[in-house]
Amino acid sequence: MAIQSCHPPSIDIMPVKQSCRKITKWEIEKTQKAIQGLNSKDKIERRLIRREDRIHKLQLLKAPIAVSELRRLFNTISIDKKKLCCNPDVQYPAIFRVNLTKKKCFLEVHSPKQILLIFFNKDDHHTCISIGAFKRVYKVWEIMQPQIMAYATAKVPEGNKWKIETAGNEDKYLNLFNRSTFTVRLYANHYHINGNNNRWQVLLMKYYSLTLFDFLNKIREKKMNLLSDDVKLVLALKIMEPIAYFHKKSVVHRDIKPENILMEGSDLVYTDFGFAADMDDPKTTRLFLGTLSFMSYEVLLRKYGNTFASDIWSAGCILWLLFSDEEYPWYELLDEDDSDTLSTKERIQLALDKMLEFHENIPSKVKKLQFLLWEMLHLNLNYRPTAQEVVDRLNQMLSDLPKEDTYDLSGELKLKSQTETLLQKVKNIFSLFVYENE
Ligand SMILES: Nc1ncnc2c1ncn2[C@@H]1O[C@H](COP(=O)(O)OP(=O)(O)OP(=O)(O)O)[C@@H](O)[C@H]1O
Ligand SMILES: [Mg+2]
Repeated sequence: MAIQSCHPPSIDIMPVKQSCRKITKWEIEKTQKAIQGLNSKDKIERRLIRREDRIHKLQLLKAPIAVSELRRLFNTISIDKKKLCCNPDVQYPAIFRVNLTKKKCFLEVHSPKQILLIFFNKDDHHTCISIGAFKRVYKVWEIMQPQIMAYATAKVPEGNKWKIETAGNEDKYLNLFNRSTFTVRLYANHYHINGNNNRWQVLLMKYYSLTLFDFLNKIREKKMNLLSDDVKLVLALKIMEPIAYFHKKSVVHRDIKPENILMEGSDLVYTDFGFAADMDDPKTTRLFLGTLSFMSYEVLLRKYGNTFASDIWSAGCILWLLFSDEEYPWYELLDEDDSDTLSTKERIQLALDKMLEFHENIPSKVKKLQFLLWEMLHLNLNYRPTAQEVVDRLNQMLSDLPKEDTYDLSGELKLKSQTETLLQKVKNIFSLFVYENE
C-alpha cells in the first residue's frame, strides 16, 4: 500500500492571492533564461548539494517542517518552477497553497530566487508572532537563501477610510526612514488581492527576536540589578535618538510604547507607523491616538490632539520603566489587559489624579535623571523638553559617569572607547534574553 507521505506535496498552480503589481516582460525573460540554463548534469548535481545545504540551514532556523517534506517540496518547486515562478498570467509576489501531508502551508513567490515558506496559522506560537488590532505578524522562512523574516499582513477593505489611511502611513513612513538605522528594516511591501477583490497589505521585514516590552519585563521578573547605570543611559539614548530624528523630519509617531520597539544584536528600532503623521502637512488632522498606558495627560483629557510633546510623554513613560524598579503610578490603572471592576472612564479619572499628584512633587534639579523624567511628564505640554534636548541631557549624564578601564583578550590594558564597550554590554544583555526566548 502506498504511504501518503511518499507523494511529493502538491502545489496549487493557481495562486490564492497575487500582487497588484504586474511583473514586467523583462523580468519574465530574465527568469526564463536562468531556468533554461540549468539543464546540464553538473548544474543539477550542484543544485542538489545546494538544496541539502538549504535544508540544513532551514532546520537550524527551526522551520516547522520535516526534512523529508522539505526535500519533496524543493523537488516539486523545481519541477513546477516555470509555472510557479514565471507565469506571465500571474502578478508577483503571489501566494500559492501547498498541500503537505500534515500541515497547510503557503509559498509566496517573489522571484525564482526568492521564495517564502509561510504557515498562516494564528494558533501556532512557533510561527505566529502577533495578532494585533490591525496586523497579523508571522515568522516566515526564505528558502532559497535561508533566513527568517517577519511578515506582517493587514486587511485593507475598500471604502474603510481609517484602514486605508493606517496602511498608507506604514508604507509612507517605513519607506521614508528605511535608510536610517532607526526603523525596522523593510525588505518589501506590496498589496495582494484575492478572488473576492479584497486587498491585503504585506510588509516583509527583518525579523527581530525581542521587543523592548519583553526585555523590560524580563529585567523586572529577574528582580536583579542587571543593567548598570551606564547601560541604562545608552539604552535611553537608543530610545530617544530615533524620536529626535523623526521629529526633525516633522513626523510624530503617535503610538510610542515598548511593544513597538524591536531589538536585535545591539540594534533598537521603531515599528508600527500606522498612526504616524507629518506635522507640516496641513491635511494632518489632530486626533487623540495611542495606547492608554502611554497616553499623555492632554490626549487623555481630549484637550489637544497628539503633538511632538505627546510623543515625549510616551517616551518619558518608557524611560521610567527602564530606570525605575517600579512602574509609574498610573501604569496599571490604564493597562487595557488589566480587568477591573472600574469602567475605563473611572480608571482614566483616577489616572489623571495620579498624574496631578506626581506633577506636584517637583524633584530637586540635582537629581538630573529624576528631574528630566518629571519634565518629560509635565502636565503642560509646552514645558516638556524636545527629543533633541533629552538626547543632549542623557549624553551629558553619560559623560559625567566615571569611566572604566577595560582589558582586551590578550590581557593588555586598553582604554577602549566608552561607547563601544557599552554597546558590547548592551549586545550581551540582549543576547541573554534571545537564547531564553527560544
Ligand atoms: N519585524 C518584526 N520582527 C519581529 N517581531 C515583530 C516585527 N514586527 C512586528 N513584530 C511583533 O508584532 C507586534 C505587532 O506589530 P505591529 O505593532 O506592527 O502591529 P499592530 O497590529 O499595529 O499591533 P498593535 O495593534 O498590537 O499595536 C509587535 O509588537 C512585535 O511584537
Ligand atoms: Mg503595535
